[in-house]
Amino acid sequence: MKVGIDAIGVSVPALCIDLEVLAKARGVAPSKYLDGIGTWRMGVAPIDEDTVTLAARAAQMAMTSAGAKPDEIGMLVVGTETGVDHSKPVSSFVQGLLGIGSRCRVFETKHACYGGTAALMMALDWIRSGSANGRKALVVCSDIARYGLKTPGEPTQGAGAVALLVSENPRLLELDPSRTGQFAADVHDFWRPLYSKDAFVDGHYSVQCYLDAISGAYKHFRELAPGVTADDFAALAYHVPYGKMARKAHRQLRSIDGDAAPDASFDAQVSASLALPAQVGNIYTGSLYLALASLLSTSTRDLDGQRIGLFSYGSGSCAEFFEGHVVAGAQARVQALQLQALLDARRKLTIEDYEAIMRAREATDEKTMETVAGDGFRFLGVDAHKRTYAGPSA
Ligand code: HMG
Repeated sequence: MKVGIDAIGVSVPALCIDLEVLAKARGVAPSKYLDGIGTWRMGVAPIDEDTVTLAARAAQMAMTSAGAKPDEIGMLVVGTETGVDHSKPVSSFVQGLLGIGSRCRVFETKHACYGGTAALMMALDWIRSGSANGRKALVVCSDIARYGLKTPGEPTQGAGAVALLVSENPRLLELDPSRTGQFAADVHDFWRPLYSKDAFVDGHYSVQCYLDAISGAYKHFRELAPGVTADDFAALAYHVPYGKMARKAHRQLRSIDGDAAPDASFDAQVSASLALPAQVGNIYTGSLYLALASLLSTSTRDLDGQRIGLFSYGSGSCAEFFEGHVVAGAQARVQALQLQALLDARRKLTIEDYEAIMRAREATDEKTMETVAGDGFRFLGVDAHKRTYAGPSA
């Protein structure tokens, strides 16, 4: 049975900040953020946007793109590390906002940035096992990445969601869950204690943990796929906390094959997957899948039938290297989503407005918001300890 990703949806907040503006305000050379980190712009979530609203918009785009009906969904999973409740999953809010039926498994997965990949693998196995009985899975990766003002992690924040409709006979990417290399280790590279809205990170150690994980996962993959080397991939998409990390990942991966000049293949194999992430920043669980959407929508090469490699990393840690085959017509389908136009429509913030939003988010969970601008899915506030949302037509 062929299984994989049938459609993709992406959402980003309506606000962003140029990293050149942030660098100047922090007294840092802009080239450090633009070239050294490899990100130009990052998404900033206004206070009526949260993991739920981002997830709902991405999911709606994926469903519309595939022409899927709510009652075709038999599994709805949201992978997130920035959930909104200790008990009620983000996926239940999404179920309500999208009108997904009651004959459905609805839950949330968490393992830092790897949570969405865990859900994707589970969805593939659910379909392949026959338990899905012809139904589809909706896997949504949604997060708001926050390290706080004036921290080293500040230029590596971001916000966004990517939804993956997973089905038999997929129209974007065929995946083989029996050939995926894994690596896990109990490390304290990045974490967010229950009492904190901002993540804590041992930044340079986290980079090393990521590199150890890609080595472990890729070596495992090579054992499962004897004879396959990095040269066999038309493109590679990595987890992108920031663009430079993808370059480091690529060097590490190719060095395992014995490649002494790994940068030579970077533009051909990786650059297209970084075009959108460089304008959004880290979106944690959705980061790898935004790289995939970027590859399919911006690559100038014909990828029909081509093998691509994907690497997912979640701090803590768990990682997976797996392969997919691009289905004929996939690039046109993703291009039709006009993702660059979605990014271009965002409003650029001044440093003062960005800092004001960052501070205001600290208090949003405890009060009901007085006014809410705009249309679409949005967070209205907390009433009697219950979070409330509005849909597009409310
Ligand atoms: P830092 O100490 O501010 O920066 O932290 P740096 O001194 O390491 O410099 C960064 C790069 O800029 C270096 O390049 C410099 O040489 C270069 P590299 O040596 O790495 O190739 N540089 C310049 N380039 C051009 N012009 C200049 C200039 N100055 C310096 N003038 C760090 C950087 C990424 C550590 C920090 O931002 C951070 O802690 N970020 C958060 C952690 C992170 O993203 N870790 C990534 C791996 S872990 C992961 O991916 C999981 C995660 O997504 C969470 C999850 O799983 O949920 C984070």
